[in-house]
Amino acid sequence: MRSPVSDYLAEVLEGCAGDTSGANADYIPELARADSDRFAVAVATLTGYVHGAGDTDVMFTMQSISKPFVHALALQDRGLPAFLDKIDVEPSGEAFNELSLEEGTTRPRNPMINAGAITTSTLVGEPDSTLAHRWERILGGLSAFAGRELEVDEAVFSSELETAHRNLAIAHMLRGYDTITEDPEAVVANYTRQCSLRVTTRDLALMAATLANGGVQPLTGERVVDPPVVREVLSVMTTCGMYDAAGDWVTRVGIPAKSGVAGGIIGALPGQVGLAVFSPRLDEHGASVRGVRVCERLSQEMGMHLM
Ligand code: DON
Repeated sequence: MRSPVSDYLAEVLEGCAGDTSGANADYIPELARADSDRFAVAVATLTGYVHGAGDTDVMFTMQSISKPFVHALALQDRGLPAFLDKIDVEPSGEAFNELSLEEGTTRPRNPMINAGAITTSTLVGEPDSTLAHRWERILGGLSAFAGRELEVDEAVFSSELETAHRNLAIAHMLRGYDTITEDPEAVVANYTRQCSLRVTTRDLALMAATLANGGVQPLTGERVVDPPVVREVLSVMTTCGMYDAAGDWVTRVGIPAKSGVAGGIIGALPGQVGLAVFSPRLDEHGASVRGVRVCERLSQEMGMHLM
């Protein structure tokens, strides 16, 4: 992966490496134990070339970065009107794990917060599909975005499920309003499984590049989702992908993005590149501290800000 671009990326990592503020997510014991010093950045072109620096081949779990991809699958399978019937697209201005629903409609406010993402995971595949079928669709769909077969990190999955009290509370609230209609514990298990898929920074850059490429995976050439689906997903990533830091992010970085509590962040620049960073220490919004810094630098120095 050595190129003038990867040399530049290595320089950016070096410039941001000194910031050791923040802390690993500690509400999932297995994430608290992860090596906090890991640091990687990768940029994937729409022809499938990946430039990278740092720990680009180290595996970690997608966590909330799975949400825009499952959102895409749900839109592809059920269409926008059926999706909007269940989940809105308004920024919540709240933390990702808030127990809240839109007043009046009782819909989750958007598919990026946990209430919306847990509901979204029930909207993939056929309307009468079982939880097992939906899991197969999520696994197959996210693997198609990555261009390789993804696997669940079983240690993170069990660790997260054992301490999923908040997500269970959210799922019971959703069941109480008939927003989801199945056993809340089984629904949370599927959602937790999607969050526990293992990826590298390189995989994430290619997944983001698939969005940047209008839904076609740059390496395999497979059309994973249609262009209108991508437009919807990138719009929601822009307004809701960074939760209660979305306004700050859009003004300072200006790239549709999604963070995850294992320390990954993706960005997708339509028609240009997919970007991914990884560093486990998080800020108060659950986004990687050094990941945000790297994105800010790339946005400024490479003119990536869309506005
Ligand atoms: O549901 C959860 O709490 C985690 N599986 C995912 C949260 C997450 O990644 C939030 N984003 N920064």
